[in-house]
Amino acid sequence: MQKMKGIMLNPFLYALLGLLLTIEVAMIQAQDQSGFISIDCGSPTNSSYTEKTTGINYISDSKFIQTGESKSIMAAYKSQYQQQLAYLRSFPQGKRNCYTINVTSWTKYIIRATFLYGNYDGNNEIPEFDLYVGNDLWETVKIKNVSLDVDYEIIHVPSLDYVYVCLVNTGSGTPFVSALELRTLNNDSYVTQFGSLSRFMRFDLGSITNKTYRYKDDISDRYWAPISFSDWTQLSTTLTDNSFTPNNFSVPAVVLSTAATPVNDTASFDFYWDSDTTNDQYYVYLHFNEVELLAQNDTRSFDVFLNGKNWYGPLSPGYQMPNTLYTSSALSGEKRYLFSLSRTESSTLPPILNALEVYTLRDFSQSYTHQDDVDAITNIKRTYGVKRNWQGDPCGPVEFMWEGLNCSVDSDNIPRIISLDLSSSGLTGEIPSSISKLAMLQHLDLSNNSLSGTVPDFLTKLQSLQVLNLENNNFTGSVPSELVDKSKKGSLSLSVGENPNLLCGSASCNSVAVKEEKKKTNIVIPIVASVAGFLVLVVIIVVVIFCFCRPRTGQPTATVSMSNIKVEPTSSPSITPNVSLLEAKQRQYSYTDLVKMTNNFERVLGKGGFGTVYHGFIDDGTQVAVKMLSQTSAQGYQQFVAEASGVKLLLRVHHRNLTSLIGYCNEENNTGLMYEYMANGNLYEHLSGKDSTAKFLTWQDRLRIAVDSAQGLEYLHNGCRPPIVHRDVKSTNILLNENFQAKLADFGLSKSFPTDGGTHLSTVVCGTPGYLDPEYYISNRLTEKSDVYSFGVVILEIITGQPAITRAQGQENTNIIQWVKSRLSQGDVKNIADSRIQSNFEISSVWKAVEIAMACVSPNPTKRPNMSEVVKELKDCLAIEIAQSQDAENNPSVELLTMNFTTELNPRARFAYIYIVPSACFFLLDLF
Ligand SMILES: *[C@@H]1O[C@H](CO)[C@@H](O)[C@H](O)[C@H]1NC(C)=O
Ligand SMILES: *[C@@H]1O[C@H](CO)[C@@H](O)[C@H](O)[C@H]1NC(C)=O
Ligand SMILES: *[C@@H]1O[C@H](CO)[C@@H](O)[C@H](O)[C@H]1NC(C)=O
Ligand SMILES: *[C@@H]1O[C@H](CO)[C@@H](O)[C@H](O)[C@H]1NC(C)=O
Ligand SMILES: *[C@@H]1O[C@H](CO)[C@@H](O)[C@H](O)[C@H]1NC(C)=O
Ligand SMILES: *[C@@H]1O[C@H](CO)[C@@H](O)[C@H](O)[C@H]1NC(C)=O
Repeated sequence: MQKMKGIMLNPFLYALLGLLLTIEVAMIQAQDQSGFISIDCGSPTNSSYTEKTTGINYISDSKFIQTGESKSIMAAYKSQYQQQLAYLRSFPQGKRNCYTINVTSWTKYIIRATFLYGNYDGNNEIPEFDLYVGNDLWETVKIKNVSLDVDYEIIHVPSLDYVYVCLVNTGSGTPFVSALELRTLNNDSYVTQFGSLSRFMRFDLGSITNKTYRYKDDISDRYWAPISFSDWTQLSTTLTDNSFTPNNFSVPAVVLSTAATPVNDTASFDFYWDSDTTNDQYYVYLHFNEVELLAQNDTRSFDVFLNGKNWYGPLSPGYQMPNTLYTSSALSGEKRYLFSLSRTESSTLPPILNALEVYTLRDFSQSYTHQDDVDAITNIKRTYGVKRNWQGDPCGPVEFMWEGLNCSVDSDNIPRIISLDLSSSGLTGEIPSSISKLAMLQHLDLSNNSLSGTVPDFLTKLQSLQVLNLENNNFTGSVPSELVDKSKKGSLSLSVGENPNLLCGSASCNSVAVKEEKKKTNIVIPIVASVAGFLVLVVIIVVVIFCFCRPRTGQPTATVSMSNIKVEPTSSPSITPNVSLLEAKQRQYSYTDLVKMTNNFERVLGKGGFGTVYHGFIDDGTQVAVKMLSQTSAQGYQQFVAEASGVKLLLRVHHRNLTSLIGYCNEENNTGLMYEYMANGNLYEHLSGKDSTAKFLTWQDRLRIAVDSAQGLEYLHNGCRPPIVHRDVKSTNILLNENFQAKLADFGLSKSFPTDGGTHLSTVVCGTPGYLDPEYYISNRLTEKSDVYSFGVVILEIITGQPAITRAQGQENTNIIQWVKSRLSQGDVKNIADSRIQSNFEISSVWKAVEIAMACVSPNPTKRPNMSEVVKELKDCLAIEIAQSQDAENNPSVELLTMNFTTELNPRARFAYIYIVPSACFFLLDLF
């Protein structure tokens, strides 16, 4: 390794330089603040103002949090800082306090929290506390000085349409926060394989002004702090936003207009930082832009070394052409990271560097409580005005779980509320119906309150309820007989004593009979509970071992723009956790097991491209679908396993809208995959109407199925890494369980499996005629957008009830897309919708679904929406349908009102428009 001299970079320097310096407001074109959420914490309720140096509009935090106290820093410190730091919110009460901030899910945000102590409490004691995003630790807030601000930034893609930013008291002083700022970033910048990026340092090199730049220079309001060392000198030019085309990182012109270069122009340009632990994972971004117009005989060319190894090179930055050099996977495993930019032999000029960013990876992988449970418990909190410190995610990490709750993860690894204890909480009034929405509740304790009214029937809806304690309240009427029955059978421990006006059947509930029932059930419950506990434990273990798709969180992977130089250091250690096949064996079954399980393959559920599916039971009585792969497919499977990606791929995928792989058998000639059993077959069977016993699907049912399956596909695309392209989305691959919840099946299979009849991997046809992306024929490349196309066809099937391809005897086959287009030209949606749902739907919701489908099947993949957009639009469709069906009588709606059309376009013309210019569909979708 060559010997190098380095300049130590200290990220704290950044904090010290921070906002203390005046912030430059450059005279560049006005930028709007779209995507900005700027919160001045602790400022007066409902107040707002425009900060005068930046022009940023700040609002009070009163809408985002209910706890904490508004405080103001000492007057002496105020003048040095921008207005948003004058107030702060402090949290003397509660271990964890959380802001809830509405965002757009799956959008890349930079979240910044700023802290200026300013001796607001007169104690002159700087506190230390933790900062969380949702359930994941972001940073420990370390403030250097009473009069210095510190800020933390994280680049994060929220998976929900809100984020919690939480402050956690760790026993070292009262947490507080001065400002919270959220800005959107280009989705194609700062891409990681998973996790979020916490800013370690961001520097503007070669600055000639010594100013920290932010908005409006930076459209994303990142802070660019100046840094300089005596071995460096500056080069600069005049640059405006119009003099160059930014790359995806949109580094501001003023930052790119200056560069640092070594004073000794034959020396290399060196800098380094030290890592606290070798486990830290870094993402590094070096921004280059040539600032000098080089003479004909001059060249600037250099290699970039990392710890003595050639990392990239040679590099010659383009004149007024920003280049960003970055790692596409994290750097880790080193104590020191020494970068050395070293001029090549032929170069006549020394190396330059304009800007530098380093981030540390935060693996934000904690999942959030099931949304239904969040909604229900939030409702209960509101109804009862619960005074406890109920904030942030209800199930949270265990230490922050809401007091009185107990949670456990379900088979999708989503935390669910299983126990609610509101005893002795001074509750009055009736039991709110929201309680019945806590679908997984096993234990409900409302004893020792002053609750009144009847014991509501909806408590019987709680299928999993094992313990119900209503003792010592003032309930009236009689206990629902179903509850009493359950208690008698021993499946429910029911306590209703000390309710003077409550009847159990004809007797008073205080009678001995019920008490005795209770005693009996007491014996049963611990056994049930421990069995249940064991099952939960098994589920947890299984999930921990096999789940590598992020549960409802994380960043979608994106492709890298061409304007960037992408660096993949060959020796970079892998950061993807791997499930070894050894672990996977735990769910391996033998062929003998399968024979037993399926009662010697007695009942055939169906036949698919890969083999036959049989009905079976596993030990605990759970029904399963066992797919025995045919010989050809089995060979493919062997290959799949050999590639060491197949089983892992399938086992790691867990989502409520994807059929889960429960186990598999892999013996020489017998390869079987075991899936959860889906009682209601596939969507195609229901739409085709061939099975007369099948339930009739209303428009609302169909929309729910569409939303469910879209969510499953969205998860494969955005929740898994690498993203999984399904490759065979079709209505026969959408399965329905006993509640008609839809789950996508067969994902990951077509990847390397030849279908029957396929002889060679390279000739394998991925997908099914009628669903195949036409672009695939041209490019021979299957992408997520190919799935979107196929899904568009499925939506059309759902709307029309027609198959993807109609094969009429003696006639040409009709493709559903052509069929719909020809009817759209007549502008009447009733011509398109399935005649079986005609009388009973909200027309605007159908129109919207047609538009989504047509956008999905756009011939040009770039015009197709991505699955996140499809999910969102379909949910809107469903919302329209639900809202309208609720007051259909009073308000018969005919027109779609959600779009702004120029006056001469009526809805009829609009469809003509789609018909004539099919590729414009997505443009229309954009307008929603
Ligand atoms: C703040 O605004 C809300 C709704 O806009 C209003 O209900 C509330 O009274 C306002 N509070 C104050 C202190 O002005
Ligand atoms: C956030 O969104 C929810 C649901 O849409 C809404 O009820 C709430 O008022 C919003 N909060 C703020 C601060 O805008
Ligand atoms: C910038 O700061 C450095 C070090 O503090 C100082 O030497 C230099 O003169 C400053 N330059 C300007 C233009 O203020
Ligand atoms: C400049 O750098 C070169 C190469 O590192 C070194 O040999 C030379 O002594 C340096 N010159 C000065 C004046 O420091
Ligand atoms: C490049 O040409 C200029 C004059 O045109 C001359 O002064 C300079 O020394 C030359 N540089 C090199 C490296 O040859
Ligand atoms: C219980 O309810 C009855 C009426 O339903 C009322 O008269 C009585 O005062 C209540 N008792 C208590 C302790 O609240």
